[in-house]
Formats: sequence, structure tokens, C-alpha cells
Amino acid sequence: KTIVWQVNASMLDINKLEQAAQLLREGGTVAFPTETVYGLGADARSTTAVERIFMAKGRPADNPLIVHIADLSQLDELALPYGPLAKRLMDRFWPGPLTIVLPVSPGAVSPRVTAGLDTVAVRMPAHPVALALIAAAGCPVAAPSANRSGRPSPTQASHVLADLDNRIDGIVDGGDAGVGLESTVVEIDGEIVRILRPGGITAEALREVAAYLEYDSVAAPGNDDFSEADGALLIAESEKESEKDSKAAASAPRSPGMKYAHYAPQGLMQLVKGQAPAVSAYIQAEVHAARARGELTGVLAFAEQAATYDADHVLVVGSLAQLETAAHGLYAALRAFDDLGVQRIWAEACPEEGIGHALMNRLVKAAGHRIIKA
Ligand code: TXA
Ligand code: MG
Repeated sequence: KTIVWQVNASMLDINKLEQAAQLLREGGTVAFPTETVYGLGADARSTTAVERIFMAKGRPADNPLIVHIADLSQLDELALPYGPLAKRLMDRFWPGPLTIVLPVSPGAVSPRVTAGLDTVAVRMPAHPVALALIAAAGCPVAAPSANRSGRPSPTQASHVLADLDNRIDGIVDGGDAGVGLESTVVEIDGEIVRILRPGGITAEALREVAAYLEYDSVAAPGNDDFSEADGALLIAESEKESEKDSKAAASAPRSPGMKYAHYAPQGLMQLVKGQAPAVSAYIQAEVHAARARGELTGVLAFAEQAATYDADHVLVVGSLAQLETAAHGLYAALRAFDDLGVQRIWAEACPEEGIGHALMNRLVKAAGHRIIKA
């Protein structure tokens, strides 16, 4: 049975956090809020503990985990000496939604955490509950997002329960997660910072510290096999999807998790790009046709255009004028479509600037690379 502790992020109940920390020390699995999404934690040094994470999530074993720390002193035992650029990134962005891939100190964490790589991904979260829990546990905490593999990441404790109740030992419920999308994962290559997964820290912010910024192929903006063909369904049939998958596998993303299909809602989702009126007209026509076929329809819209749709369910993901609101609401909206039993979903695209880059990266994945140019 999964124990749930309610904690108030602005008035920490040390007693409850100590109970959760005790579970972690004993090799248990505990979900906790971070400033990005909820994580599912276990002692990173213990293979049996870490295996419980993979079991609970149904996660492929070749997908390594991020190790969370509460204090820079914990880094000395995890990573081999690193250069000044890594240090500058930590100084500027920790605690915060940046994960840095560093050379692992041999034997510091279970080989299941690194999936056999000679690197370890580390982050210091900027959430008071996460920091207090990790500090109380006194160990590095391996924590992927606390969802069943393939489901949207959880941004509320109720999402964790929906996916993992009775599969994990405990949940620290500290309310809504912050950013709503996962951390940015980077690796450092001499003077180059390479983004392996776009996330909570934007490329624009990284440029303040990194003179040379690159993207791993799968993380680049606009990398969605988008062509200019008007109204063409770019990647539709399942053959093309598996083509895409094998293409992604062939180019071997540096962040192993990026090759997996993610966040897919149960309904068939398409992402629609283009000028606002054309997008609206296209989606309206599609909704109309689908409803005529008796399908339950959903539109994932920005506040600016939401009123133009008459689908069965129109969910406002946030405002185009403030994409942070959309990042915060995306995963809850995808889960809501599932709960509503929606069969066909059309999602509006957004500009790939700032947090919009990470948002589009997740939308493209949720849509299984089905992208339409209206
Ligand atoms: O915001 C977040 O990062 C959340 C919270 C809980 O911290 N965690 C999270 O973990 O998103 P997860 O497991 O869902 O994603 C971890 C990502 C995967 O894409 C994985 O492949 C990559 O980090 N990763 C982990 N270790 C790596 C390594 N040594 N080298 C390259 N990529 C790595
Ligand atoms: Mg995840």
C-alpha cells in the first residue's frame, strides 16, 4: 500500500519528510514534487532500490536515471573532476531545472542508474520539499518522472497515484509541480554546451553562460520532419512512424530517453501548425467530420483561439502570450483527454522560442510526430 504524506511546501513538516527519507534509506521508492514534475526517488547507490523504480514504471533498462542532490558537497562522490564550464552552469542554474551530464565516479551509483554509461546525469532541484527530502535521506536520489512509462509526466500527486498507486512505497504530496515540463538535459564538450533534451532552462538562458551552444539532433528546434506541403499529413501511417523510430535509433540520441515515444494520450493526436485563422479553420473542419463519424473529439487550444472551436472537449492549455502557463498545464490536459475518453485530438502549435521550444518538443512527441501544416 502506498503511503501518502501531505506537506505544505512553505511550511515543511520535518516529521513527515523524515518518515519518507527513512523509506528511501531502507531501499524503498518515494515520489516527491520538484519544480519541474514529480519524480520517483530511490537510493541511487542501491541496485535493488533502483530496480524497484524500473519495475514500478515499466521503464526500459537502457534508459538511465537522473541523480538528484541537495548540496554541492554530494557531487564530489558522484562525478569525476569537471571543468570550469560545468561549474559556471551549476553556479548559475542550480538549484533549478538543469540536468548536467558529468563523468561518473566509478562505483558511485548503481550501474542501473547510468545504464552502463560512463556518465551520470545530475541535478539539484529548486523545490523546498525535494531539497529537504534529499537532505534528510542523506543519499543521492535517482529519480525519473513518477509516471508509468509512456504516460505524461505527473505534475500533481493525483497523477502519480493514478499511475503508480500500490506500485511504490510512498508519495510526498506537496501540491502542484512548478514548470510543468522536465529539466533541460545538457552535456559539456570542451567549451560547448549541448542540449540533449529541451526543458525548464531555455536555450536563451544557457547562452548567457555558454559561448557555444549546440543541440543533439533529436533536441533541435524544428526537428519534427516538418515539410511545407500544404495540408499534407506529414507522418501518418504506422510504417512511417516506425521509419521515424528506426531513423531516431540509427542517429542514436545522446540522451537515451529521447528515442522513446512519450506522453502519448490514448486518443489519436495531431499537431497543427500555421497561421492562426488557417489552423482554426482546418481544425474546425476536421472536428466537424470526426463528430459526424461519431467520434469523441478534443482540441488542445491556446486561450487566444479556444473560443473558435466546438469540439466535444476544448481544453485551454495556456496563453500564447505567456507560454509558461501552457508548459505548466500541458501534461494535466493530456491526462484529462484520457480521462474524458476523447478519441481524436487536435493541438495548436506554438512558436519555438523560450519555453516554447520544450513545449513543442513534448507536443510533437505526444502527437507521435503527426504534424499538419494548415
Ligand atoms: O525534470 C526532470 O528532469 C525530472 C524530475 C523528476 O527531476 N526527471 C526526469 O527524469 O525527467 P526522466 O527519467 O523522465 O528523464 C531523464 C532523461 C532521459 O532522457 C535520460 O535518457 C536522460 O535524462 N539521461 C539520464 N542519464 C543520462 C546520461 N548519463 N547521459 C545522457 N542522458 C541521460
Ligand atoms: Mg520521464
